[in-house]
Amino acid sequence: MPRTVVVVGGGVIGLSICWRAVAAGWSVTLVDPAPASGASYVAGGMLAPITEAWPGEESLLALGVESVRLWPSYAAELAAAAGVSAGLRKDGTIVVAADGSDRAELDRLASYLDSLGRRVEVLRARDVRVREPAIGGPVRGGLAMPDDYSVDNRQLLDALRRAISGVPHVAEAAADVRAGRVLLASGRTVEADVVVLAAGAWSGQICRRLSKVIRPVKGEILRLRARVGAVGPPRRTVRALVGGRHVYLVPRDDGGLVLGATQYEAGFDTTVTVGGVRDLLADAERVMPAIGEYELVECIAGLRPGSPDNRPLVGWLEPGLVVATGHHRNGILLAPVTADLVVATLAGADPPDSLRPDRHLSSVKGSQ
Ligand code: GLY
Repeated sequence: MPRTVVVVGGGVIGLSICWRAVAAGWSVTLVDPAPASGASYVAGGMLAPITEAWPGEESLLALGVESVRLWPSYAAELAAAAGVSAGLRKDGTIVVAADGSDRAELDRLASYLDSLGRRVEVLRARDVRVREPAIGGPVRGGLAMPDDYSVDNRQLLDALRRAISGVPHVAEAAADVRAGRVLLASGRTVEADVVVLAAGAWSGQICRRLSKVIRPVKGEILRLRARVGAVGPPRRTVRALVGGRHVYLVPRDDGGLVLGATQYEAGFDTTVTVGGVRDLLADAERVMPAIGEYELVECIAGLRPGSPDNRPLVGWLEPGLVVATGHHRNGILLAPVTADLVVATLAGADPPDSLRPDRHLSSVKGSQ
């Protein structure tokens, strides 16, 4: 008999774990009141560890690069299992600078990446326009990251749900997780040999030991669509630095364009603010004036699961309880590597020490 696992959380991490765990022979149950409706549904879908690299976060960069390496096979296998595309685009990413100080910041990023041996190409303003004619504002050049991809997050979630359509689903909220046992908000319990906690920003509410470790980090996203006659979206993902602020523009196959994202420490608030929408539109329009002609289709906010060091927590929290959370800005990017690590953990392997779920517990007062 296969051993049993209950996965708490039906975002991209939980769904990927369900899919890979079933394929590895586990008998899996999913617990989530509304799968595929949280941060994974809101996301922009950048798979951009190089573009978002930050000094001091080298192990996160290495994990992201490893996950990008896995993405093509993960997407192909998922498409085969689901019968629909997983939405991967391998057109690359460019980063553009709006003014001289933004350019200086990109030069610092280029030297940092160069010191790590990562591939980036420095672009003059003219090179940017040749590659992406939609970039029409007076930009001060940029960088090309051909190995940073993107995915249509909603196509991805649809594919994952199809791929696990045979997995039993308990459509209830979890209130508490323990080794081998999930207490539901209704008072019922679900038992299994192993519980995998993958509840994103809610992980700290469901697992008391993580209550001071995982926090919600709000992000607002806008979805636009090119109207007839408007200049089409860029082919690559475009990330821009505009007066020191970051904005990204992620194209979709259907002519859609996703703009993101703001970042606030605002608890579990998911309201969309006028200021957030204004800043995203103003910064995006500064580098791509044509968006003024686009249809504004959707404004939405989600909650990233932040951890104190921005790295996810993956591995045993105690026997019978595995954790896969804290992916912060990188849940979609890190889904393939996380699912593989969790399935390997279930089979007895040790995930990297840098991801140990207990690494923050001794330093976080009141967490034990
Ligand atoms: N990965 C981009 C974001 O979290 O906004």
